[in-house]
Amino acid sequence: MGFSQKHLLGIEHLRPDEITAILDLADQYVDLNRRDVKHADALTGLTQINMFFENSTRTQASFELAGKRLGADVMNMAMQASSIKKGETLIDTAMTLNAMHPDLLVVRHPHSGAVDLLSQKVNCAVLNAGDGRHEHPTQALLDALTIRRAKGRLHRLNVAICGDVAHSRVARSNLILLGKMENRVRLVGPPTLVPAQFAEFGAEIYEDMAEGLKDVDVVMMLRLQRERMDGGFIPSEREYYHRYGLDAEKLSNAKPDAIVMHPGPMNRGVEIDGEIADDINRSVIQEQVEMGVAVRMAAMDLLARNLRASRAAEPVEV
Ligand code: NCD
Repeated sequence: MGFSQKHLLGIEHLRPDEITAILDLADQYVDLNRRDVKHADALTGLTQINMFFENSTRTQASFELAGKRLGADVMNMAMQASSIKKGETLIDTAMTLNAMHPDLLVVRHPHSGAVDLLSQKVNCAVLNAGDGRHEHPTQALLDALTIRRAKGRLHRLNVAICGDVAHSRVARSNLILLGKMENRVRLVGPPTLVPAQFAEFGAEIYEDMAEGLKDVDVVMMLRLQRERMDGGFIPSEREYYHRYGLDAEKLSNAKPDAIVMHPGPMNRGVEIDGEIADDINRSVIQEQVEMGVAVRMAAMDLLARNLRASRAAEPVEV
């Protein structure tokens, strides 16, 4: 069937075979990234603009490296310093950039749905690098690749997503992806952070960590996203760590070969014990970062192929 998307706005728009196509190509880019010479030419001649309206370390660096390794001209817009501060709307900024003929636009924005809206106004491929608490598709794809490589498959696994699910676009995208690939997902956390409506996605909800982690293959921890909280969601960080922080004792409920994941940035001693995070026998947190570059290379490569094909199909104006 092939990969037929024009943009990468959310996992909700992808078919299972499209998810597999991205991951298969990403596996090849993992090999390339481990060589001394890391160059390929999938994006040669194309322009990639990264617009991050929210802070980012991993995601922005990884999109930048991905574009450069594939030969694109990559520009990072410093959105804090841009005209947005002078009152220009998101759409005006996008239209201005669009007039410079970018081919790939990578956008992170604090408002859910903002990236989708923007994609309707420009004529290039748009990649969502996180919109509010809505979706973060490349994060879910890199998590999927990490799981598939560690477990040898991406179906019939028991995955626990733990902590601040309510404010997390990472949780939402992962929940959708893991469901599409026929895994069982549990959401673990206090009711203030794991609202009951998440059961709609087909997940089981657990308030108790030991029960929630029982016999799972994958433990995915989330950061407490205080920047999105508008009140007291937890009693105190100490109490939270005691009940929900991942330590060796809580992890002992999972399968002996269960892997530990975290999208970063991590708060050691809040949602995860530093020793577990650093335990190379359990934690795949560094692999997640490595897979991030490869998955973004694969996603941009596939979108660029569709972009070129759609342009070739258009009549040329003379
Ligand atoms: C996540 C995000 O920005 O949604 N980080 C990331 O992209 N690696 C998760 C978070 O901020 O906690």
